[in-house]
Amino acid sequence: MADATAGSPLRPSLIVDDVHVHYRTFGGRRLPDGASWTSRLRRHVGAVDVVRAVQGVSFVAHHGESIGLIGHNGSGKSTLLRAIAGALPTAKGRIYADGTASLLGVNAALMRDLSGEANIVLGALALGLTPAQIRERYDDIVDLAGIGDFLHLPMRAYSSGMGARLRFAISTASRPDILMIDEALATGDAEFKQRSGERVAEIVEHAGTVLLVSHSMSTIRSMCDRVLWLDHGRLVADGPTAEVLEEYAERTGRPVARPTPRPKTPVS
Ligand SMILES: Nc1ncnc2c1ncn2[C@@H]1O[C@H](COP(=O)(O)OP(=O)(O)OP(=O)(O)O)[C@@H](O)[C@H]1O
Ligand SMILES: [Mg+2]
Repeated sequence: MADATAGSPLRPSLIVDDVHVHYRTFGGRRLPDGASWTSRLRRHVGAVDVVRAVQGVSFVAHHGESIGLIGHNGSGKSTLLRAIAGALPTAKGRIYADGTASLLGVNAALMRDLSGEANIVLGALALGLTPAQIRERYDDIVDLAGIGDFLHLPMRAYSSGMGARLRFAISTASRPDILMIDEALATGDAEFKQRSGERVAEIVEHAGTVLLVSHSMSTIRSMCDRVLWLDHGRLVADGPTAEVLEEYAERTGRPVARPTPRPKTPVS
């Protein structure tokens, strides 16, 4: 990628260079109708299929950019984010990140039987915050989550929206250089959308980079400057939000939300 960053006034934060990600699956082969039971059984042993989830994706993200990632179900969005986060190996290609890349999702670390308070500490530790950093940011997390007295109840008593608010609040407390959000904003109410939008703008303002996967075109439109469109694992468009969403609407027949004015955040 000799010239990928040439001419840009912005500093690159993430370089994704011809990335391919494959999954290996077992026993998924389709058999002809009337196949014998022995061949059906054999299907479960030894038959390996490769799913080419991401195929030759390249782009450069910059400090201070908020990028939306759109595409049909199964187009490879989550796979690409997981590869960038280092949770999946690439079959081919390279990923370079300037700083920490964190995929929003402290899900695995949180425990439904513990209170929100305890989960804040648990989630923040899982994200690598020190106890001192947790003490310093605790009130901020509580504020952003905005779930009131539910904070003292076990998470199993939360609605899905409340859980999403708490997870978002914990995850963004780690202030990663590159924050990746995979559909985490989908379940929130209007107030949460507003708060999370502000938090995303704050991260971008401090010259972080945000990669946001969403099927909600209005969320993408209100939070992103630029959009990447994946289709069957390939990048089919990369450009300013309005242009890509228009093309997406034309090609897929999906209506996209009308533009709403968005406060511009300065890029440092
Ligand atoms: N663990 C897995 N093992 C095998 N194949 C997988 C696995 N996870 C995803 N895939 C396949 O990889 C492809 C890309 O999936 P991915 O989850 O990245 O899509 P997506 O764009 O995030 O979809 P969605 O919008 O539904 O979340 C799909 O064909 C999917 O079936
Ligand atoms: Mg996904």
